[in-house]
Amino acid sequence: MSERHEGTKHGSSRTAVMWLLLPPLLVVIVLKTGFLPQVARIRETGFSKATDEMVHKVSTLGLDSARWQQQSHDTVKPEAAKEHNHQDQMLATNGPKDTSLINSDVAVPISTLTCNFSNVHSDICTMSGDLRIHGKSATVYVVSASTFQPENSTITIKPYTRKWEKETMSRIREVTMRSMPPAPYSFVIPPRCTVRHDMPAVVFSTGGCGTNFFHAMSDLIIPLYITAREYNGLVQLLITDYQPKWVAKFRPILAALSLYPVIDLDGDTAMRCFPLAHVGLESHRMLGIDPGLSRNGYTMMGFRDFLRSTFSLQRPWTTPISRSTGQKPRLAMVLRRHSRAITNEADAVTSMKDLGFEVVAAEPEDVNDMVHFAGVVNSCDVMVGVHGAGLTNMVFLPHNATLVQIIPWGDMKVACRYDYGDPVPDMGLQYVEYEVTAEETTLNEKYPRDDPVFTDPGSLHRQGKLWEIFLEGQNVTLDIGRFREVMQQVYQSITTE
Ligand SMILES: *[C@@H]1O[C@H](CO)[C@@H](O)[C@H](O)[C@H]1NC(C)=O
Ligand SMILES: *[C@@H]1O[C@H](CO)[C@@H](O)[C@H](O)[C@H]1NC(C)=O
Ligand SMILES: *[C@@H]1O[C@H](CO)[C@@H](O)[C@H](O)[C@H]1NC(C)=O
Ligand SMILES: *[C@@H]1O[C@H](CO)[C@@H](O)[C@H](O)[C@H]1NC(C)=O
Repeated sequence: MSERHEGTKHGSSRTAVMWLLLPPLLVVIVLKTGFLPQVARIRETGFSKATDEMVHKVSTLGLDSARWQQQSHDTVKPEAAKEHNHQDQMLATNGPKDTSLINSDVAVPISTLTCNFSNVHSDICTMSGDLRIHGKSATVYVVSASTFQPENSTITIKPYTRKWEKETMSRIREVTMRSMPPAPYSFVIPPRCTVRHDMPAVVFSTGGCGTNFFHAMSDLIIPLYITAREYNGLVQLLITDYQPKWVAKFRPILAALSLYPVIDLDGDTAMRCFPLAHVGLESHRMLGIDPGLSRNGYTMMGFRDFLRSTFSLQRPWTTPISRSTGQKPRLAMVLRRHSRAITNEADAVTSMKDLGFEVVAAEPEDVNDMVHFAGVVNSCDVMVGVHGAGLTNMVFLPHNATLVQIIPWGDMKVACRYDYGDPVPDMGLQYVEYEVTAEETTLNEKYPRDDPVFTDPGSLHRQGKLWEIFLEGQNVTLDIGRFREVMQQVYQSITTE
């Protein structure tokens, strides 16, 4: 493979030495040719500064670079590898003798590449200059890079935001970034552009989440907003592990983020050239944005405004409703069917209507119609439901509306809060919890009361059975009296005399 080939041919210490010699050499070339404008250009690109840093870095080479090399050899997919080889042959036949090309294309360093591997959610690389993206081999060529380092000239990342989740990440295609040094130290001629784009590119994978609405929002849409919103639509989205259903469902949001149709990278044989690119999406927390980590100080309030404008939602705010006018606060009830269903949902709806709410009961089919349901949710002051992806529709609630999360049996409070409770304050919403007791779960039809399901649910979490037993394995039968009390408090808090 090419990396190994390059490695044996030049040897990394020798290449490092060449790097040390490069600035004086360039100066000599510049002086000899009297090509003064280029001197200025070299200074502007910060080339000598970068080189100073390289001197330092080369001497502190550590395990990291070994890791990159290892990764790039071990994990390239067979098709991708074939494509690589093909290109390398193609490149190899153009010898460095073709000086016209070198002079015009790669005379001075013009590209930079920086990666951040320290975020727990995602690895991200940002690059600028002369970038050439080949979808079919999932490769980005960073041509004539001032950041070039022989040890990590090949970097691979998986552009999905659940880095800690092995199983999910195993389904994500790797994207390889191959840096090339500037001439005359580039021994390969970069592949020629077949399509030139003059806007930035954002490369990410949709392979991790199906159409689950929580994951779509938390893993992709919010990170995409953080990464791509600043370009105001003038950005090209390129998707690997392309899921047509996902793209179709979120088309309104994709269209609001980018003026251009998304590109399915996986089969793309074009060599697309871009001046700027992000590979991987920035992600800070579940269903949230940390303004301190966002380059542009983005917030969830801003994100929700963005959604409101994308879906033409009418209500930015809820305001307290006066009971004496006879107006009723509207409440959306998110219903589930296969698990975590409310077995006595009719009674629950009746009790809330009795309290004075106008109740909109939403079946899974209603909830899945995102464009329509966004409008329904935005027209409501309260949204109620058992823990589940449907609650993600809270993003469409007007500011200061209330989310009521019903927490199923099984020591689930912390996990449920993590997904839908903790994100609430940053969204400018109110939050209320209703925790189901052992009396209210259908698990008591399957397990005796002295079973760990009731005596020590935590032990089952530790055995990895949380999903199977407590999320997939129960429905809830609400204690209507207790539920009514909680909802009455909500009613009081959002209404006035
Ligand atoms: C390449 O490796 C050096 C250390 O050897 C590191 O400082 C630099 O950030 C790496 N470059 C990228 C793009 O990861
Ligand atoms: C890399 O990401 C981490 C975590 O998001 C952040 O704290 C850090 O500032 C980033 N580093 C750089 C150089 O941007
Ligand atoms: C929950 O109730 C539905 C009927 O509404 C039923 O089809 C489903 O099997 C039940 N699930 C569990 C886990 O009990
Ligand atoms: C927001 O809602 C809370 C109760 O949910 C209420 O007490 C408060 O007055 C509301 N704030 C505004 C600005 O409407």
